Amino acid sequence: MSNHSREQWSSKFGFILASIGSAVGLGSIWKFPYIAGENGGGAFVLLFLLCVVLMGMPVLISEIVLGRSTQRNPVGAFRKLAPNTPWFITGYIGIIATLLILAFYSTVGGWTLTYTLDAFTNSFHQITINEAESSFTTFISHPFIPIFWQAAFLILTMIICYFGLQKGIERTNKILMPLLGILLVILVIRSVTLPGAMEGIHFILYPDWSKVTVSTFFEALGMAFFSLSVGAGCMVTYGSFLSKKENIPNAVGNIVLFSTLVSLAAGLAIFPAVFSLGYEPGIGPPLVFITLPAVFAQMPAGGFFAALFFLLLTVAALTSAISLLEVSLRYTEDEHGWTRKKGIMIISTVIFLLGIPATLSYSSLSDFYTVSGLTIFDTLDFIASNVLLPLSGLTVILFVGWKWGVPLLLKESRGDLGKDLPFKTAWAFVIRWITPLLIVVVFLFQILSLLQK
Ligand code: PFF
Repeated sequence: MSNHSREQWSSKFGFILASIGSAVGLGSIWKFPYIAGENGGGAFVLLFLLCVVLMGMPVLISEIVLGRSTQRNPVGAFRKLAPNTPWFITGYIGIIATLLILAFYSTVGGWTLTYTLDAFTNSFHQITINEAESSFTTFISHPFIPIFWQAAFLILTMIICYFGLQKGIERTNKILMPLLGILLVILVIRSVTLPGAMEGIHFILYPDWSKVTVSTFFEALGMAFFSLSVGAGCMVTYGSFLSKKENIPNAVGNIVLFSTLVSLAAGLAIFPAVFSLGYEPGIGPPLVFITLPAVFAQMPAGGFFAALFFLLLTVAALTSAISLLEVSLRYTEDEHGWTRKKGIMIISTVIFLLGIPATLSYSSLSDFYTVSGLTIFDTLDFIASNVLLPLSGLTVILFVGWKWGVPLLLKESRGDLGKDLPFKTAWAFVIRWITPLLIVVVFLFQILSLLQK
């Protein structure tokens, strides 16, 4: 059912910005710093980089190439390349992952929207850490208000997607991503020039191996996949709009470089400030919503910097959320002939309904656990980030390495530049052996450790 005159990005730059926009999100700015904080700072950063190179990048390249060469959504892409085989299930795994991610993503997206408005109206003026904690807890435990903000975040996402590829997604990224870059640079400069900032810089850059356990590896893999938007079919979808003349390894180099730099910069914007004011780095998810408002309150012109930070977080969340919604929108358009409007209304309603219990995990459903003490929010996150993304990443890489073949991947990735992936023999080995083996090992350990909890 796919249409063959597929829409395209207006330029390669538009594609790269939109892909960086998808990659850089709550994962890079909210999750990465607190997971690094809990897992030994620099040591986690090193493991994360290793996972990015050995597991994230090969899957990222493969997904974009599969999308571009078939010009289809994740399910259609596999149907076209391997008709009458079950490989297309990979596409469905990705689509389910995007729905689950967007469900809990919109919970946090809603928090960031409220915090941005609060920061702009100077609500964090002179707030202490205790006050910040009680105001965050009061907010998230309210039975309705967070749901309202979650809906507002989803509506923003729907509006952008409604305008389509070039006018909606590409234009939004072209405006918001440079803004994000500027905000981040201002915040890093502010943070690293505070008195005592060195301790925070040391924390994020110096590896403390004593905090590294086997589970740190799992976290690093999950984080590498999540933060590169790999395994959800997102990059297959974005790749399907890329012109045949562009060189994919070159684009992937930029995407990986910039999104990793943003994660590191987010650490550098947060930890030096946290240490400088004597707070605890490893407090987990509330780091950004509790510690940071208190940190900003103690800085000169702190209200202004707090507003910048939460705006940055909202921008990052939105540009990722649109990429998540686009996956199922394109699937329903290509495979079932739905109009964009119909897709947006139906899919967003499903996501919102799934997302309500995630938001309520912090209020009325806070005592409701699924397995191993996970709340509904944690469960959605776990299933999507730690099970579905690696699983679909694994099948993508097995498909490319063993069924489709690395030579075809290399050929299809070249574009008009005609340039191959550098070190192509080494990459071929990594794609066929290292990436799948590592994903399987990490995945099995993760499931075992969950069952043992
Ligand atoms: N990469 C996004 C982040 O770090 O927040 C999350 C994400 C977006 C994951 C799109 C998967 C995806 F397909």
